[in-house]
Amino acid sequence: MEIVGLGYMGLESKNTEGWRTYAPEVLGMAVRPSDGPALLLRMDDRNHRIAIRPGDRDRLSYIGWELLNRPAWEEALQILAAEGYAPEIADPGLREERAVHAMAWIHGPDDVRHEFYYGHGFDSHTFLPGRPHNGFVTGEGGFGHVVLTVPAWTDELNHFIEDVLKFKWFGSGADTGKRRFYRPRRNHRTHAIGYSIVPGVLGLQHVGIEVHDLDDVGIAYDRVLERGDPLMATLGRHTQDPVISFYAFTPSGFPLEYINAGVEDSEVHPFVEGKPESLSIWGHKFNPDAPKPSTMYSAAESVTSDS
Ligand SMILES: [Fe+2]
Repeated sequence: MEIVGLGYMGLESKNTEGWRTYAPEVLGMAVRPSDGPALLLRMDDRNHRIAIRPGDRDRLSYIGWELLNRPAWEEALQILAAEGYAPEIADPGLREERAVHAMAWIHGPDDVRHEFYYGHGFDSHTFLPGRPHNGFVTGEGGFGHVVLTVPAWTDELNHFIEDVLKFKWFGSGADTGKRRFYRPRRNHRTHAIGYSIVPGVLGLQHVGIEVHDLDDVGIAYDRVLERGDPLMATLGRHTQDPVISFYAFTPSGFPLEYINAGVEDSEVHPFVEGKPESLSIWGHKFNPDAPKPSTMYSAAESVTSDS
């Protein structure tokens, strides 16, 4: 399967209105004018990268994997069907909502709705950031990464990620065996998806987005501190994936990692197969008072969205 990257994400939120100011003023994203119920956030010329729909709880609704073109999309559907995942094809209304030519979805063994699409709508030279900002690292690499919590790394999930989606391994962080990072083979980023293994827990642990300019990380950090948003971790530089980032809670109650200086061409990166002794070289001091992400829930309670 030739997935290009993580193209979009959908969230359900109890606080869509909070995002309306947070996304532009803190993150620098643009809010796309829309008549629909979802708040659409732009990071580049794509129609949108993140859709936030009002709801009764905070949760990840779906993640969208981009295929290169129609033949690649059809091949992906054949592979998913052969593996017993029975992809459901999006009707015209849903295709329009996602702004794609074609889409199909499955329920993954991680309790997440994985969508597979090609032909994401875009408007060239129309992206204007929500505040003065030097732009997001998107393009072929996708909009960033998601880290999901799963209660165990099962054979089924391993098969899904490594054999069905054909993702490449990118290390396990400092706590070997408790995290796993992966990316599509075509992708030049270190990871597009990660899993944090926590017994009894499912859901979204954090989302990572990358910006071109370190100053935009600093400005976002200032805005977070001025607003008093809770941090999950202070500004710091990771060891295995040596980005500079901080983690702060969004209006939806999950942490967002705001990143600069991501590594590319990670196949030759010396840290990939290494086993770092610590998560970070400096910083990333964890906030002992940080709340539990509201998008993580008991594994006994499936809250996966059906739309
Ligand atoms: Fe991250």
